[in-house]
Amino acid sequence: MYRTHHCNELRKSDAGKTVTLVGWVNTKRDHHGVIFIDIRDREGVTQCVFRPDESGEAAELSHTLRAEDVIQVTGKIEDRPEIEGQSTVNEAIDTGEIEIVATELKVLNKSEVLPFQLDKELSNEDLRMKHRYLDLRRPRMAKNLRVRHAITKAVRDELDEHGYIEIETPILSKSTPEGARDFLVPSRLSPGKFYALPQAPQQYKQLLMVAGVERYFQIAKCFRDEDLRADRQPEFTQVDIEASFVTEEDIYATIESLLARVFKSAKDVEVPTPFPRITHQEAMDKYGSDKPERRIGMEIVELSEVFAKSSFKVFSGTVERGGTVRAINAKGFAKITTGQIKRLEELAKEAGAGGLAYIKIEGGEWKSPIVKFFSDEEKAALEEKMGIEEGDLILFGCDKWQTVCDVLGRLRLEVADLCKLYEGKEDELDFLWVIDFPLLDFDEEEGKWNAVHHPFTRPHADDLALIDDESKWGEIRGAAYDVVLNGNELGGGSLRIHEGDLQAKMFNVLGVNDEEQAENFGHILGAFQYGAPPHGGLALGLDRLVMLACGEDSIREVIAFPKNNRGVDLMSASPAEVDFKQLRELYVKSTVSEKKD
Ligand code: AMO
Ligand code: AMP
Repeated sequence: MYRTHHCNELRKSDAGKTVTLVGWVNTKRDHHGVIFIDIRDREGVTQCVFRPDESGEAAELSHTLRAEDVIQVTGKIEDRPEIEGQSTVNEAIDTGEIEIVATELKVLNKSEVLPFQLDKELSNEDLRMKHRYLDLRRPRMAKNLRVRHAITKAVRDELDEHGYIEIETPILSKSTPEGARDFLVPSRLSPGKFYALPQAPQQYKQLLMVAGVERYFQIAKCFRDEDLRADRQPEFTQVDIEASFVTEEDIYATIESLLARVFKSAKDVEVPTPFPRITHQEAMDKYGSDKPERRIGMEIVELSEVFAKSSFKVFSGTVERGGTVRAINAKGFAKITTGQIKRLEELAKEAGAGGLAYIKIEGGEWKSPIVKFFSDEEKAALEEKMGIEEGDLILFGCDKWQTVCDVLGRLRLEVADLCKLYEGKEDELDFLWVIDFPLLDFDEEEGKWNAVHHPFTRPHADDLALIDDESKWGEIRGAAYDVVLNGNELGGGSLRIHEGDLQAKMFNVLGVNDEEQAENFGHILGAFQYGAPPHGGLALGLDRLVMLACGEDSIREVIAFPKNNRGVDLMSASPAEVDFKQLRELYVKSTVSEKKD
């Protein structure tokens, strides 16, 4: 037996017992020959004292210990003493009232000096990732792993209680369109052919509905070869859900109850349900985003009417061409620095703006090169609509609707960061549903229609007939919904097409011809001929869910072994080159040298 207790277990009431602990040397202090070792395991730390007179050989050995050595200590529990009238109790730790006076010490393994200290935050992420097994020893990371476990367990328990059954679907599978590039795996047994790793188990879960499963879920690994960000990994995990004979309302209720349970178990907070709902149109109009962050206020205000006849041609000209003029009021931010304004200008341009018009209200004056073009009525209307007060900063967007949404949506979030608007709101949980997404989106460059969600999403019941009129395709709403938390897209889903003819029609709209349909989607179109039930579902990003529950800014902090933002695992050095022999067996030839030329 290695131990009698873990390192966060012993209390005052255990005084007098002889115990054995195992763990790592967390800290070592030498007080005039008396050695104090904090021994750590995953539960916590306990102080061990090695006194030359009481600990014998163990005392001698304790001098050789180094941080992170693995040790086994046996000794007697004593209350922490008073020294010169001062208590030595450490209230910062749960075992702070006692200590172990060691009688035996065994070194189970030695540790080299660590490449970084575990008790300090480390900004060098590459170094952390290279030694991830050490990084994960840090209390914050160890806690994140356990929160992830608690959340996964809550998900399984909740869905099980509601009759959902967990089913694994293949990883070696066929390309399914979710909007990213596929990771491909060459097949040795079928020369020249490739599996695709699933971007999501979308088609399999729909086929499970055809199979009569009725309620499915999976903690599913998904793979998407796309540009990486703080909230995106090439390999990530979904809580993937699908059910038959359900309406949107059924799905909203299931997910709300699931998320409430998750936050209760992970953070012990009550999440109010049902969640508010807003349409995609309203989300874009008010917040310039389909994943609105509502904790920061600063709603976008429509001003096209105010400036339709303005002598400021940038505004009136845009309105005339069918565009829009809108603005946000960054309350109290007139003191913005020139550098900060430059930064906002750059952001606006990145989002597609031609420039950034703004007004600072300072010393009772409207400071801006554009104000001189405004009439008194325009000024009065602007003041009233924007609620302008001394010290405000008004930021304008003027362009096509979509561009203005993108620009002001970005500026809102940047201003919130600059003005620290999140301070004091860290614990607020703003859940909401964004509903009525458009079904289709026209890609100007490619000159074709794309599915906003994916091609299996059902048109909104009221818009079904519009699919037969090409001029109306842009107006069709999908029976699709996203669940958003504090400006993050936590999950998305939809009711699905279950009729073969409607699915084929949808593929035609998306420019997938009959031959391609048969080749790539023959299985699903075929399945729909044999009594496919009405069905729908949703997938939550588990990594994002855990990130938000842990108060982290990146999903890398809640994944045991993540890739960096270049898609590289620095610890195992993957991806890596492979032997020519391996490639030959797979009938694969690298073109990397051609590309270099
Ligand atoms: P969608 O593509 O919206 O829907 O994905 C669902 C959720 O998965 C998470 N997510 C990611 N998390 C980390 N890294 C990524 N690269 C990444 N990509 C997506 C997000 C997102 O909301 N099959 C559909 C679901 C359905 O219709 O049921 C789907 O995959 O949190
Ligand atoms: P100009 O008349 O081009 O000098 O522009 C006057 C102000 O309007 C400047 O502050 C520009 O940055 C701004 N501006 C010009 N074009 C746009 C646009 N498309 N959207 C928002 N602001 C613009």
